[in-house]
Amino acid sequence: MATLGFIGTGNMGGALARAACKSIPSDQVFLANRTVEKARALAEELECRVTDNEAIAESADFIFLGVKPQIMADLLAEIGPVLAKRESRFILVTMAAGLTIARIQELAGGNYPVIRIMPNTPAAIGEGMILYACGEGVAQTEEKVFLDAMAGAGRFSPLPEKLIDAGSAVSGCGPAFVDLFIEALADGGVACGLPRAAAMEYAAQMVLGSARLVLESGKHPGVLKDAVCSPGGTTIQGVRTLEEAGFRGAVMDAVIAAYEKNADLK
Ligand SMILES: NC(=O)c1ccc[n+]([C@@H]2O[C@H](COP(=O)([O-])OP(=O)(O)OC[C@H]3O[C@@H](n4cnc5c(N)ncnc54)[C@H](OP(=O)(O)O)[C@@H]3O)[C@@H](O)[C@H]2O)c1
Repeated sequence: MATLGFIGTGNMGGALARAACKSIPSDQVFLANRTVEKARALAEELECRVTDNEAIAESADFIFLGVKPQIMADLLAEIGPVLAKRESRFILVTMAAGLTIARIQELAGGNYPVIRIMPNTPAAIGEGMILYACGEGVAQTEEKVFLDAMAGAGRFSPLPEKLIDAGSAVSGCGPAFVDLFIEALADGGVACGLPRAAAMEYAAQMVLGSARLVLESGKHPGVLKDAVCSPGGTTIQGVRTLEEAGFRGAVMDAVIAAYEKNADLK
């Protein structure tokens, strides 16, 4: 049974540790965090173990690097000498936006096997979209162990590494775009007289249901949109208003802006 070590148990590292504890025995999951109380509180909830960066680097089979991209160099400089002494097999799992597998290896000081993932915040409730690329030297059997252990985080999709930044601009950043949309829908409902809580619930459940309909029916969103727009009806007037405001162009520009910003992080 593989052991998973999480260095950095913030929003994303914490969400992934939570997912891991759904699929593998929690005594196989180890947490370390700069502010140790944060790791301790999560470990208490998940009934897994707290340790430190060095111990994870020394012994975990999968070492999750859950720190911000700008902290990665310092973290890998700290644990690099420990990794260099290891005799047992291990895999580094990076979730850092903008940092390539080659850059992680360079910072870690060795050609270690790396899995690069791009998760999103819905992973915290098991509904994540997690893109991943396996670096050279990651065996198929190891990829399977990884996917089985992390299945509780949501849907996984392998992607060539050169497309991870593009995927990240859609599914990694997308929750923020969709949250804006949900808030705006609810604001519209409040403007029309709905109580705030009801407007929020209607908007969020509608987005959830519409997304599931796209995935489960396999139909193009244009076809699903047409099914709501009766001739001469009310919905098509809302669609016209969004088109006039440049809604689709604005959403495309948001994805492209996020993608371009990723390039600056390198
Ligand atoms: N949030 C997202 O939607 C998202 C999506 C995709 C990818 N990511 C990636 O996920 C990574 C983490 O982002 P996040 O949003 O989870 O950030 P976060 O909430 O700030 O978490 C980072 C954690 O790392 C800890 N930390 C910092 N330096 C450390 C060190 N030297 N040793 C051990 N722990 C250390 C911090 O501890 P303290 O408690 O002391 O601050 C904090 O708990 C980033 O690389 C980001 O690019 C995030």
